[in-house]
Amino acid sequence: MSTREQLDRLRRLRREAERGGGEERLAAQHARGKLSARERLDLLLDPGSFVELDRFVTHRATGFGLEERKVLGDGVVTGHGRIDGRLVYVFSQDFTVFGGSLSEAHAEKIVKVQDLALKTGAPVVGLNDSGGARIQEGVVSLGGYADIFLRNTLASGVIPQISVIMGPCAGGAVYSPAITDFVYMVRGTSFMFVTGPEVVRTVTHEDVDMESLGGAGTHASTSGVAHFVGESEPDTLASVRELFRYIPQNNTEPAPRRPTEDPVDRGDEALLDVVPSNPNKPYDMQDVIGRVVDDGVFYEVHALFAPNLITGFAHLGGHAVGVVANQPAVLAGVLDIDSSDKGARFVRFCDAFNIPLVVFEDVPGFLPGVGQEHGGIIRHGAKLLYAFAEATVPRVTVITRKAYGGAYDVMNSRHIRGDLSLAWPSAEIAVMGPKGAVEILFRKEIARADDPEAALEARMEEYRERFAHPYIAAARGYVDDVIDPRETRARLAGALDILENKRDANPSRKHGNIPL
Ligand code: HXC
Repeated sequence: MSTREQLDRLRRLRREAERGGGEERLAAQHARGKLSARERLDLLLDPGSFVELDRFVTHRATGFGLEERKVLGDGVVTGHGRIDGRLVYVFSQDFTVFGGSLSEAHAEKIVKVQDLALKTGAPVVGLNDSGGARIQEGVVSLGGYADIFLRNTLASGVIPQISVIMGPCAGGAVYSPAITDFVYMVRGTSFMFVTGPEVVRTVTHEDVDMESLGGAGTHASTSGVAHFVGESEPDTLASVRELFRYIPQNNTEPAPRRPTEDPVDRGDEALLDVVPSNPNKPYDMQDVIGRVVDDGVFYEVHALFAPNLITGFAHLGGHAVGVVANQPAVLAGVLDIDSSDKGARFVRFCDAFNIPLVVFEDVPGFLPGVGQEHGGIIRHGAKLLYAFAEATVPRVTVITRKAYGGAYDVMNSRHIRGDLSLAWPSAEIAVMGPKGAVEILFRKEIARADDPEAALEARMEEYRERFAHPYIAAARGYVDDVIDPRETRARLAGALDILENKRDANPSRKHGNIPL
């Protein structure tokens, strides 16, 4: 064969690989509002940066007529590319080829990029659109999944791993995304469940459709499986690109800095009036965050799940930071089971990847109730405490109002190695709020009083005078300073500068035993 003929053959095979499952199936994919595996990669990666690997791989299975049905690439496009110039490994499942189902060869391709990513310290982004284990391959396919799960686990905390669900993701297949750091879903076209509606109907007699069982809305707000929801595929992939502004390549690199025109000493007058004078009145902590971080840009994580705690990324004085904040506007900012889980996972991501933590605190305590106690608020609350206590990244806190009870300790207090605690003059740091405290301490006295209402109020006023301020904590050095709220941005940015080279470590051990 001449060189020209060889090149013609190569071009023909490349075109064949790019056709995937063929025109008809691609049209069906588009008709559902879904893009092809390659179109998705074009949107995710910098233009022209994608380098494909293993495009000539085919399955090796026999039977069920499979010998005649070999498609180059075998249902997954793999390789590497760039996001804002940074190396990232990718795989993108092709639903037009056996429904994107996972064969031995398909799994080997994914495993190859996982191994390369770990070796070279680069993130992996997986675009999932698959009918699950390739039924015709039986246990070999299950083995392929296990090979992927193992690598997800070994890479956890070493390189960022991001899963984007862009179609079905069912059965054991869900556990690869579940191990990764962030799960993105697309509203209306992506689904995740361990067992689908049919099986649910048979086993529990519950009648449920795909969307309410495992659609993006369900996983973003109820189960917490999804961290982000996009309204369309392009929107979702653009959001993944945005995440890269805040995360490093791997656990040995610092989080990316981002120069800003926003002056670090910008004082915001509105911060003076954010906290209402009535301690039981809510306000929106998003407002505080937006006024403090660089250019008001906040990339919220898990926005729809447990919104009584806010988590997300921002830059502050050019430093990438992870923000954890109580949200007084939802459930008074109380900590409950879901918000503890949400916060703990976020804190651990930031700690693993060298992203400093900035905490805005206004927390009345842990949520009381039979449901919470029986659901394990002790076990779940302990996760957040543990996550903060073990974190060795720079950690700063601003107490805007309430810091009550155990939640005071948990929310990044100095006692558990927080580096700097600042309080606004409106901070109240005590074992509990005035009413609860007075009712315990003076129950008999109040009951005996001629005017119990007035007696309660008088004792509460006394309690407020004594405890509902930051100065007892400041006298002990538990808070380092009480600041004018307008100085918040400057003080936090200054602290992050000073803490940039912080070195801290945990005792040597195989691993800790976080309460799971
Ligand atoms: C082989 C599969 C397949 C699979 C789909 N296809 N799933 N081929 N193995 N798992 C093929 C179909 O035969 C069809 O081929 C094409 O993909 C598109 O499938 P359709 O059913 O026509 O598409 P749609 O109506 O959109 O339905 C998509 C679907 C459905 C919801 C994903 O196909 C489905 O329920 N598939 C089975 C899902 C499943 O139960 N998988 C196993 C889960 S357990 P043609 O040739 O017609 O295009 C699992 C275990 C993992 O995955 C274990 C890890 C430990």
